[in-house]
Amino acid sequence: MFEDEQRSIEAFIQTYCAENDIPAPEDLQWKPIPFSGDWGISTSFFQVAAQEARLGKKVNVSIRAQEIAEGAAAHIGVPEGFSLVEAVRGYLNLYFSSSEFSRRVIDAVMKGGANFGRGEDKGERVMVEYAQPNTHHSFHIGHYRNAILGEALARLVEFDGFDTIRASYPGDIGLGVITVLWAYDKFYKGQEPDDLHERGQWLLKLYVEATNLLTPREDETPAEKAQREAYDAERREMYRKWDAGDPYLRQLWLETREWSLEELRDILRLIDINIDVWFFESEVDEPAKAIVEELIARGVADDERPRGGAVIVKIDQKLGLEKEQYRANVLLRNDGTTLYLTKDLALAKDKFEKYGVDRSVYVVDVRQSLHFQQAFKILELWGFEQARKCHHLGYGFVSLPEGAMSARRGQVALFKDVVDEAIRRVLAEIARKNPDLPQQARQDVAKQVGLGALAYAMLSVDNNRDIVFDIDKALSFEGHTGPYIQNAHVRACSILRKAGGIPGEATFNYKLTPHELGLIEMISRFPSVVQQAAREYRPLVMASYAFELATAFHSYYHVVPVLKAETEAMRAARLRLVAAARQTIANALHLLAIAAPEVM
Ligand code: ARG
Repeated sequence: MFEDEQRSIEAFIQTYCAENDIPAPEDLQWKPIPFSGDWGISTSFFQVAAQEARLGKKVNVSIRAQEIAEGAAAHIGVPEGFSLVEAVRGYLNLYFSSSEFSRRVIDAVMKGGANFGRGEDKGERVMVEYAQPNTHHSFHIGHYRNAILGEALARLVEFDGFDTIRASYPGDIGLGVITVLWAYDKFYKGQEPDDLHERGQWLLKLYVEATNLLTPREDETPAEKAQREAYDAERREMYRKWDAGDPYLRQLWLETREWSLEELRDILRLIDINIDVWFFESEVDEPAKAIVEELIARGVADDERPRGGAVIVKIDQKLGLEKEQYRANVLLRNDGTTLYLTKDLALAKDKFEKYGVDRSVYVVDVRQSLHFQQAFKILELWGFEQARKCHHLGYGFVSLPEGAMSARRGQVALFKDVVDEAIRRVLAEIARKNPDLPQQARQDVAKQVGLGALAYAMLSVDNNRDIVFDIDKALSFEGHTGPYIQNAHVRACSILRKAGGIPGEATFNYKLTPHELGLIEMISRFPSVVQQAAREYRPLVMASYAFELATAFHSYYHVVPVLKAETEAMRAARLRLVAAARQTIANALHLLAIAAPEVM
């Protein structure tokens, strides 16, 4: 924000050094001085002093650094826009004038609007893969954590300047899917629930029933055992037929798969996620087989099939590692079928080659960590440069206060049920707190707040940690929640409405209160928070920031008079600060895929 001033100060330092026979500082590193009521930047002269010592001058480096800093400070004076220049223990500290700094921050926000904080074009393409549940299954809140984490990440890297592609990769085939088809075909043929959101749940019920029938029990009689084995044989035969392309099974598979996909698309629409590319596990199965042949030909994989074994990659051995780290992996079973890992190789190849991806992020359950380490290493051995830029963003388990979810036991919190409940509760809250709000607006706001509460409950916990999802806590308007942040936005909107508009410009030429300074400091940090969250692939960084920003706004709002400010000039400055806070809160919420309501 003070780039011009910074450059002219650098020029002052260079002339000072030249005139005094001091080696020219090669590249002056500026660091922000940690905020404690004043803003400033600082640089040090230890390197210059050390350089003099190397050149043969007899100096004590720290004493000499301080001497140079003092000389430079005297030479610079106090330039326009600054309030203080001082030399301290070898450092040159420059403090900005608070009123000037504040004006520039607020002007930058107002000028940038929804683009305030956006990073420069990075000229690189990132693919974020998420929202990829298995089909023939319902969508529960664990899947939701994945979807919202991936979406926030995609928004962050996109906003930071990466060309971003959103990809999904549903697991649409495997023994689990076949188990559902078997049960359907055997016991429920021709049936179909009407409601879009009941089908996944219904297929899950079939899966649970089938699993019970197919799992050995300790007390089973010989007749029961025979029955179970016969069922299992049917199921395996079904898988074989599916694999061979049996038209009836393929049709049944596609039809039931579509039930899950319809529900998935409906949910993604509800939570404002637009997937650009749909990959399916079933579609990379054949290409995966071809890749294995190539890996064998290149000596990356070993074909032990002729000796009754499988095709394997001894990752550690090929990397020349002594200690066991990535282990060995099967790529093709003896019968020629692929595995989950094999398909991931084909998927990665598509991502790199068809979509020109430079970086690839996989948002997947943390329990698949080893799987991804192995996949990325095999890609490296295969010769993909981009493999080094593949990143697995793992996330922990979501459980309920009453215990762990279990699809097998049919004990899950369906996302759709949780959303409906959240919206219902927010509607009741609005009816109490804001009875004058018209019906349609109530519905819209309830949806925004209900969904915002759920999103924030997921994003405000470090991705690696498990979540015990508690709907009561998530929906609270106080504390570390989505509605609390949304409420800061609502309050800012309400002040600006009452004021009847935002002044086009304002200066901060008065003694700023600590609450104003604190809020301006929070706003000024937004662009670097975007960078950090995107660079570290950590939406949590933005989630924590949004909460701190909202907190700074709430205290400002409670303590500092805006509409009733002492002077017209102060009123204008404070209104512009409210408008800038509103904009920054809206931008932060948007990056978390949370709506910013104007009333609630
Ligand atoms: N469908 C898988 C699951 O539900 C996640 C897919 C992860 N992505 C990948 N490229 N392996 O566990």
